[in-house]
Amino acid sequence: MPYTEYQEFMSSNPLLLFDSGVGGLSVLSHIRHAIPDSSIVYCADNAGFPYGLKTEAWLAERVPRILQSLVARYNPCAIVIPCNTASTIALDAVRAVITLPVVGTVPAIKPAAEQTRTGVIAVLGTLATVRQKYVDDLINQFASHCTVLRHGSAELVELAERKLRGDDAPVEDYAAALAGLLSQPHADKIDTIVLACTHFPLIEQELAAALDRPINWVDSGAGIARRTQHVTKNIQWPMPATGRAVFTSKADNIALLKPALAACGLSSIEYL
Ligand code: DGL
Repeated sequence: MPYTEYQEFMSSNPLLLFDSGVGGLSVLSHIRHAIPDSSIVYCADNAGFPYGLKTEAWLAERVPRILQSLVARYNPCAIVIPCNTASTIALDAVRAVITLPVVGTVPAIKPAAEQTRTGVIAVLGTLATVRQKYVDDLINQFASHCTVLRHGSAELVELAERKLRGDDAPVEDYAAALAGLLSQPHADKIDTIVLACTHFPLIEQELAAALDRPINWVDSGAGIARRTQHVTKNIQWPMPATGRAVFTSKADNIALLKPALAACGLSSIEYL
């Protein structure tokens, strides 16, 4: 292919972000900041949502299959899977069938273990994420000197989805969703919480209000953005940058997301 044609080919290829729902918007804001010119296709697999309540086998089959359909349609230059559940379970299966660069996520256990002063940290994720051996390995490797409490919550994921649809829940709902963490031994000494689900940075203020004590919140957003910037450093992004949201199912409540999507530069909505 002649050089100019190749440049044009490269420049028309967007970055594809993939999450079960709107959670990945918490990472998209970091990516927009790190790579302001990037063109984005953001896919929310709302037909498969919530991932946190699915089995490993179901996710390892579904995530690569949906991504293959997205690659066929949008021809991205690279894929980012900020979703902790999809990444910790299905990343190998994705890389086995997709040859593009794929940026996954790593729950931010290492920085949390470095930053804690009390030595007690919590990993807040989905039920599927917190039971992964991948998380055991991160804890053994980076946080063996800490007490690490884990809490999986489908309720918090749902509360974040509601918030981005303009439906704010009372602080008591957040407190109830955190009760299973706070009742664990040593919970009174937690000073650092890993937000190991993309949905949770979206509700950090509400979580802070429900906990009512100072907490150091740590998430993977900035790290994913740095890695994405690195793998796309040779891409010539088209001007102006574009942003589209893609859903895997038509649902009435998608219209309610328009303001939140637009705030992240996703100005059009499409369906896979
Ligand atoms: N946002 C996803 C994560 O980071 C999963 C939420 C869900 O669909 O349960 O794990």
